[in-house]
Amino acid sequence: MVPADFTELPADHALERQDRPGAFAPTYIHDQWYVAARLSELRRGRPRQLCICGQAIEFIRLEAGSVEARTANGGQSLPCEVSEDLVWVFLASADGADTLPIPVPVFGGPGGRIRFMEKVVLPAHQDDAVYGLLDPAHTPFVHRSPIWRGSGVLKEKTKSFEPDDMGFTMMPHAPVNSDIYNLIGGAITVRIYFRLPGLRAEYIQNSKHTVLGLTALTPVDAERTVLRQIFYWDTPILSLVRPFASLIARPFLEQDVNIMKLRSQNKGFGGKGMLVGDSDRQFLWYLQLKKAWAEAGGCPKTFSNPLEPATLRWRT
Ligand SMILES: [Fe+2]
Repeated sequence: MVPADFTELPADHALERQDRPGAFAPTYIHDQWYVAARLSELRRGRPRQLCICGQAIEFIRLEAGSVEARTANGGQSLPCEVSEDLVWVFLASADGADTLPIPVPVFGGPGGRIRFMEKVVLPAHQDDAVYGLLDPAHTPFVHRSPIWRGSGVLKEKTKSFEPDDMGFTMMPHAPVNSDIYNLIGGAITVRIYFRLPGLRAEYIQNSKHTVLGLTALTPVDAERTVLRQIFYWDTPILSLVRPFASLIARPFLEQDVNIMKLRSQNKGFGGKGMLVGDSDRQFLWYLQLKKAWAEAGGCPKTFSNPLEPATLRWRT
């Protein structure tokens, strides 16, 4: 049954290619910082070429722990910073090569050092990857595992949101019981912040400790997007279980990869996307933010966050 409250995907959220229906023409978000790599992925004296937003970029790690970035063809130097153990590169729009970069996003990960990271390549345009990131209702259907969920009963969730800088925040709330929260212990609150270009930070806190789960999306090209699931924490107990973290994180992310494969196959068959009620509202907000950022020419002084505070309800 199709719920009454649904929205057709806006036609302009990504442009379909004429030559290959179902394939997207590149519509990247410019004038933003993208995660290029974890610092340890770059070795001194070994320049590394990465494709980001369809552009080949060479990264050179220097002695002082800083990193230089330049376009592989032409050698134009690009703003590049190391922050919170990550290498960030700023991609200006083609016509705005002189744009001054906005400050690099800082999420306040405890200790500033990555404790755990998993990386997958989603076979998806960035918009679809963001859709997967912001769709709260897919979890019980896509992420099935005897380890982390078993009840099979859908419960109604109500969450409050507020516009926040270049994105929005799901206000702090007490989460439902889960193993990771029980491991940290105490009275837990969870706050989730999403911002352009595709960064989602989940803060899990008790009175003493913080765990930050940062999901960073970086488009490789129009059909592939790297998803990095990064954790920072200051809880000794999580360091003890870290050797087993991949056993949970890996299958979880591979389930996201699989559902993206199915989504792209569906598009190949001419399937049309459809957005359903409150559970897809966050993705619509992303599209609104993306549009407003492009209309502001990537200038933070001109940009004004188009969102309003809202309370959303869905079942997971
Ligand atoms: Fe997922």
